[in-house]
Amino acid sequence: MKMEIQRLSLDECARLRSIRLTALQDAPQAFETTFQTAVAFPPESWQRQLQNLPTFIAVVDGVDSGMVRGASNPDDPSLAYLISLWVAPKARGLGIGQALIEAVIAWAGSEKYARLVLDVAEENEPAIALYTRKGFKPTGQTRTLPPPKDHIKEHEMVLELSVG
Ligand SMILES: CC(C)(COP(=O)(O)OP(=O)(O)OC[C@H]1O[C@@H](n2cnc3c(N)ncnc32)[C@H](O)[C@@H]1OP(=O)(O)O)[C@@H](O)C(=O)NCCC(=O)NCCS
Repeated sequence: MKMEIQRLSLDECARLRSIRLTALQDAPQAFETTFQTAVAFPPESWQRQLQNLPTFIAVVDGVDSGMVRGASNPDDPSLAYLISLWVAPKARGLGIGQALIEAVIAWAGSEKYARLVLDVAEENEPAIALYTRKGFKPTGQTRTLPPPKDHIKEHEMVLELSVG
């Protein structure tokens, strides 16, 4: 297996749309956005997402097989978020999720954020185990997703980044 992590450039909306829609269809319980909402996004929405959210793709033997994005918080410039983590079912258990998380940690570190925060569904044991291995700790904050996913409770986790 040959795997590389690529950061999408601003003209790669089609690549983003394709893998994100696949992720939303495969793992609806893991994300707030629904497939039905995202499939109707106009091209400008994907363009805006690429502009606002650094996006990393895991390419496995030439095929886009995983993604993750970073986000910032206009109200707290010390905080970055890790969002949209997904690995294609066939490619799981090979360390790709870990490599994608590392890409966002490197991005957040290079941008001098102090903390990296994420939300994970309470029942998502593989993801919680992976984040814990990478050093994320539960903050104790929880939230319920808005309808139609209001049966899903998410826990916030944080990784303190060494700034310096
Ligand atoms: C959560 C998710 C991203 C993990 O992706 P992944 O690529 O399977 O993650 P990794 O391979 O890095 O780690 C997962 C497991 O593989 C193991 N692993 C890591 N490197 C490995 C390697 N080189 N060879 C074999 N196994 C390996 C890890 O130890 C881990 O094992 P365990 O959890 O069974 O103890 C993936 O399951 C997924 O996309 N789920 C659906 C979407 C989702 O839940 N996203 C998170 C939203 S918060």
